[in-house]
Amino acid sequence: MKKPIIISVTNEKGGVGKTTTALNLAAGLATAGKWPLLIDLDSQQNLSDYLGCDLSGRNRTISDLIYSAVAGQDVDLESCIHHNPEGLDYIPASKMLATAPSILSNDRDSGTVLQRTLRQKEMSRYDYIILDCRPALDLLVTNALAASDAVLIPVQAEKFAVDGLEGLLGTVSRVQRSLNPELQLLGVLITMADRRTNMAREVEKALRDALGEKVFSIVIPRMIEASVSTNNQRSLVNDPSSKLGACYKSLAEEVIARGSAQS
Ligand SMILES: Nc1ncnc2c1ncn2[C@@H]1O[C@H](COP(=O)(O)OP(=O)(O)OP(=O)(O)O)[C@@H](O)[C@H]1O
Ligand SMILES: [Mg+2]
Repeated sequence: MKKPIIISVTNEKGGVGKTTTALNLAAGLATAGKWPLLIDLDSQQNLSDYLGCDLSGRNRTISDLIYSAVAGQDVDLESCIHHNPEGLDYIPASKMLATAPSILSNDRDSGTVLQRTLRQKEMSRYDYIILDCRPALDLLVTNALAASDAVLIPVQAEKFAVDGLEGLLGTVSRVQRSLNPELQLLGVLITMADRRTNMAREVEKALRDALGEKVFSIVIPRMIEASVSTNNQRSLVNDPSSKLGACYKSLAEEVIARGSAQS
């Protein structure tokens, strides 16, 4: 059975571009002929909103999958998968996901509930599963890391960005040791960079000095078109005139190249 590459897009810090990266990476992978599934793991539902999700008719979300796994019940996976107008498949989040850490803690193997949920044969049709994590380092994020092959960390090009990374890399190592030895750092993505400023150049240099090739060569610039795209519920990648869209296509190519280098 083919196994999708599962990537957690995560950073404990809020507003660094996780959701924008998750969606446009998926759109870029789809443009490159891959079949991605996006999963919204944040009760803020930003990814679901960005994808134009309407939960009024079909209410199955990632909460249904997680909570029924803890209860030992089966939920039809297909009924949780939604399709957006751009052709992206996704599992949305619900507000209820805010209670996930306490629900997960009821499970005997509380760190691997999501891992069990995603290892279903229906998932094997996908080439990639992209998990958009919330800005936290809680049991839900631990579950995402335990379920993943790789972690992609967007880092905003600003002061203190590098300091915040240490805690997260420590968590990645802990999950590697305790729950998921397969977990790899896919890469750190510099986002919202204004390369005209000394600050952005210094942050980029500090990250490249510390992490070398683990920092993606593509740097995502700060551009207003990102928030326009969020509001219009359209990916940047599928807008041929979008500069950020071109950057995210390059990111998708790097991700594909790194994935095959690792396997
Ligand atoms: N390259 C960019 N240039 C300018 N604005 C951006 C860029 N990328 C994302 N943004 C904007 O910054 C805000 C935060 O981005 P996003 O929601 O992707 O971050 P996040 O890390 O997922 O946030 P949270 O931690 O709240 O989940 C959004 O309004 C988004 O449109
Ligand atoms: Mg987000």
